[in-house]
Amino acid sequence: MNIHRFQNTQELNEAGAGIIAGLVQLQPRVVLGLATGGTPVGIYEELVKAYRKGRISFKGVTSFNLDEYVGLPEGHPESYRSYMNHHLFNHVDLPPAQAHIPNANAADPAAECLNYDRLLDEAKQIDLQILGLGHNGHIGFNEPDHSLVSGTHLVELKPATREANARFFNSPDEVPTHALTMGVGTILKAKTILLVVRGADKAEIVHQALTGPITTELPASLLQTHPHLVVLLDAEAGRYFE
Ligand code: PGA
Repeated sequence: MNIHRFQNTQELNEAGAGIIAGLVQLQPRVVLGLATGGTPVGIYEELVKAYRKGRISFKGVTSFNLDEYVGLPEGHPESYRSYMNHHLFNHVDLPPAQAHIPNANAADPAAECLNYDRLLDEAKQIDLQILGLGHNGHIGFNEPDHSLVSGTHLVELKPATREANARFFNSPDEVPTHALTMGVGTILKAKTILLVVRGADKAEIVHQALTGPITTELPASLLQTHPHLVVLLDAEAGRYFE
């Protein structure tokens, strides 16, 4: 496990984008696992800047997003498809056919999950999986539970997750109750995992996840088993690490 702490968000964002951009330069046909939420916004901003300066191209990149809300109409501004379009896809040359996000409005969600896993299998392996961390220790939308699911599946979001994400919606009631998410099996199969955590409100959970017991009740603790885990923390999130 390789833990880096940064004095401020800008330094963290530049470091995160630097790792991704470097990989895209080294390996133009790289497979990226992408995350949404507040955490990676600044990293995507830095990637767009690098693209505009001509330093990187996404033409050969394939991407798989971790998750998508169920029940938001197509084009809803808070869908993760809209988020990715807004923060990254609309600004770079990643061919749309190569940018995968689970279709959470599929008529048959179980078939869509199998289809997403088939696409992941065809891509062989995610080279770099970007992850944020939920306040309850979730990764993707793999919520704390007595057991976890390996592949892509339908989940019911925990009240704490819906509360945390209510800041993006007009009212808490508008936050979807369900989502499709990649499973922990797929996440752990990635060649390298880049976990990014910011803020004092996540200091305790990230410390517990990376140094405490491995348990499905704290899904991010499973990351301790991964041979290539890179963790980027800002000073506040990293305050229990010395
Ligand atoms: P956040 O979400 O980046 O908006 O804090 C992280 C997560 O829930 O995985």
